[in-house]
Amino acid sequence: MLRTDDGQTIKLEDYRATDFVLHSVAMTIRLFEGRADIHTTLELERRKGVDAAAPLVLDGDELTLTGLALNGTPLEGERYDASPQRLEITGLPSDERFTLDIETTLVPENNTKLMGLYRSNGIWCTQCEAEGFRRITYFLDRPDVLARYEVRIEADRSAAPVLLSNGNPAETAVLPDNRHFAVWDDPFDKPSYLFAMVAGDLDSIHEQFTTASGKPVSLGIYTERGRATQAGYAMDALKRSMVWDERRFGREYDLDVFNIVAIADFNMGAMENKGLNVFNHKYVLLDPETATDVDYAGVETVIAHEYFHNWTGNRITCRDWFQLCLKEGLTVYRDQEFSADERSATVQRISSVRRLKAHQFPEDQGPLQHPVRPTEYREINNFYTATVYDKGAELVRMIETILGRDRFRRGMDLYFDRHDGDAATVEDFIACFEAATGEDLSRLALWYGQAGTPTVTVTEDYDAAAGRLTVGFKQTLRQGTAGTGTAPVHIPIRFGLVGPNGQDIDTASVHGANVAGDVIHLTEPEARVVFENLSERPYLSVLRDFSAPVALDHPQSEADRLALARLDPNLFNRWRILNDLVGAALTTASRAPSPEIQAPLTPEIIDAILGSAGDESLEAAFRAQALALPGEAEIARMLAENVDPDTVHAVVEAARRGVGKRGAALFARLHADRETGSQFSPDAESAGSRALASAALGYLAAATGDFGPAADQYAAAGNMTDRLAALTVLVHRFPDTPASTSALDDFYARFKHDGLVIDKWFAIQATIPSPGAVEIVAGLASHAMFSLKNPNRVRALVGTFAAANQLAFHRADGAGYRWVAERLVEIDRLNPQVSARIATTFRSWRSLEPVRRDKASATLRQLLELKDLSTDLRDILGRSLR
Ligand code: ARG
Ligand code: ZN
Repeated sequence: MLRTDDGQTIKLEDYRATDFVLHSVAMTIRLFEGRADIHTTLELERRKGVDAAAPLVLDGDELTLTGLALNGTPLEGERYDASPQRLEITGLPSDERFTLDIETTLVPENNTKLMGLYRSNGIWCTQCEAEGFRRITYFLDRPDVLARYEVRIEADRSAAPVLLSNGNPAETAVLPDNRHFAVWDDPFDKPSYLFAMVAGDLDSIHEQFTTASGKPVSLGIYTERGRATQAGYAMDALKRSMVWDERRFGREYDLDVFNIVAIADFNMGAMENKGLNVFNHKYVLLDPETATDVDYAGVETVIAHEYFHNWTGNRITCRDWFQLCLKEGLTVYRDQEFSADERSATVQRISSVRRLKAHQFPEDQGPLQHPVRPTEYREINNFYTATVYDKGAELVRMIETILGRDRFRRGMDLYFDRHDGDAATVEDFIACFEAATGEDLSRLALWYGQAGTPTVTVTEDYDAAAGRLTVGFKQTLRQGTAGTGTAPVHIPIRFGLVGPNGQDIDTASVHGANVAGDVIHLTEPEARVVFENLSERPYLSVLRDFSAPVALDHPQSEADRLALARLDPNLFNRWRILNDLVGAALTTASRAPSPEIQAPLTPEIIDAILGSAGDESLEAAFRAQALALPGEAEIARMLAENVDPDTVHAVVEAARRGVGKRGAALFARLHADRETGSQFSPDAESAGSRALASAALGYLAAATGDFGPAADQYAAAGNMTDRLAALTVLVHRFPDTPASTSALDDFYARFKHDGLVIDKWFAIQATIPSPGAVEIVAGLASHAMFSLKNPNRVRALVGTFAAANQLAFHRADGAGYRWVAERLVEIDRLNPQVSARIATTFRSWRSLEPVRRDKASATLRQLLELKDLSTDLRDILGRSLR
């Protein structure tokens, strides 16, 4: 048997409330070089009905206890039992409130896990979600224990002139020995995972915001010294987010201040601590010279996401970590809607669906699959997944599709009314929509408990004489590794019947199962819908806007698909149908013997792509999406078995050359027409034009083998978006040429002082599509700018290589697997969250052809045999092999 049984399994069904109720928390945090002393005063009370002899058991993690007192009197040793991961106290009062004073001491400088209190470039900061607070003090560290916090931070005035925590500032004063303190008071009860503290020598920018009801809020963004000038766009995105949440959901901000701190060493994207969001600085710091359009869009999204958590996550939190999607899925849905309103709704939807298919579908179709609401876990940090976040958002979106925008809003209003201040569950959430609208959502609710991607099969039968189209729908869900059931769910299918002129035909005369407006509600295993009075056969456009996270099996003729790719008034489906057609052709070619590889796409398909790309009535960003072929990992996922990454790569390359050759004139024009020299603006329209020109550049290079245009674009680039696009073409298409190496050297010389930009330099080299990339990344791992301790560096080099270099990671001799495995062991000793995350890149090993499959599984097995692996990494390896 595989040894995976070290950690204990936590189960949803075992949930019960704590024996003790927490009323308040007062903390004093004293910061010194090399040490932090934490004094926490808890006001507690035994819950009514709990056995008077029951001990209080507090969570800890690598803690050192230095003091313990009950109601002000130090506790005798026999009354408690303290270990680094647990503090148990007996003989506590049975029916009155009491206070516990707990003192701990830590070394933030040694905290390489970046959970709890740590130091990043001299700045003291915290990350507590999910279970980091227990690394600061012993506590009831779970999301259903809410309390009011008062926090006093003391530090040296020169090392830390800025002292921040949650809530509103209450008091500051100077102390002897060049020290000072600040007190922060958070009037909103919160769970410990939302606690935060930051202290350091920081720069900042500030603005005032007035809420819809006239309440002034001071906004601040704090950065390392010298970088506050890069925070302007984040501030702008924050203000737009605040306005949007008022207008769209009626949600106002609730404290006097809202602060954001940008930190260089950070495990995730960002964290929504009440009134004090802490960010990976990658999602705050921007300027045109160092950041791409994609980076700008990322900052906007993450700023909005964390801000929106103030209501969906903080005011209403989760009862337990199984309910993580309650805040994450809902908040991703909200940030997607924000981006759709701020930018182009169609293009936003396309990029959300691409992301879902690239990250969530493979997760849901492999051994790491789990329901959006899991029922058990060993390590909760491994459940911050695409399934919880992105599929979780899709489930909320389906509720909106089923109810319609207005009734959805009524359900949300009720949710905020009913559960403000609560630690809630998924059932609570769904009940609000049912209560507000009278709709039965029981079949929708089943989605939360079943892992796997359902397939919807669509059949069409047109009776010309009768003018009748009969459409059959069938849903199937294969039982997967997670064994979570396969009951039929509610699948809303947005649709249209498109006439030959590209107009939707009025579908008034419809009968069959459950059609409301433009949505077919599939709630049974099968359904049939009949459209009458048709004068000619229409094109059936289904799953518009990707109205459900399903795999679609709709055997439509190529002619129908090509027509829809040109005509569908639903622009999302124009893209989706074209993308599916291309994906199917590339998948077929990847299965077929080699002669076919020369031309995997028919001229008709290529013309459809070029037709969209050249259509000036469409937004540039949409046209760029039409040019983006499905990636190699996406083809591999669709192949599902016996995948040979070399063949897939050859097929995608051949397709790229085919499109490039046939569209050479268009691409030359699109590239020549690009805007140069003018002022950079990060708005969606300008970004779309740049994306289109860059796509054209890529095809030009693929078709002609000429590096000239890319070299020229690199030399003339006035912003990072154009520079990086050109560099990517040079390095990926013309590796080892003087043009490529001199551009790489130039890039390094320009930006060597800025780790965030050097991450792009690492990532570009990690994704060179050549077997030799294994040796390239191995060399870069000893580069002076690389550090195993910084998660951004590690993700840029190791993570990007494993996730985005199919050719080299899956090199047939197993060298790619071995190199990643060796790095995983090193990373795991420092930061288990990061090693576990990168290890998920092995998850699709079973779909590989036999030689690679054996090498990948042997690598995983050897890793799992090692002693001293973290629970995080062991959990991922064990589940990947199941
Ligand atoms: N709640 C944060 C967000 O969605 C993510 C924090 C995850 N942290 C972790 N250690 N797993 O923005
Ligand atoms: Zn979140």
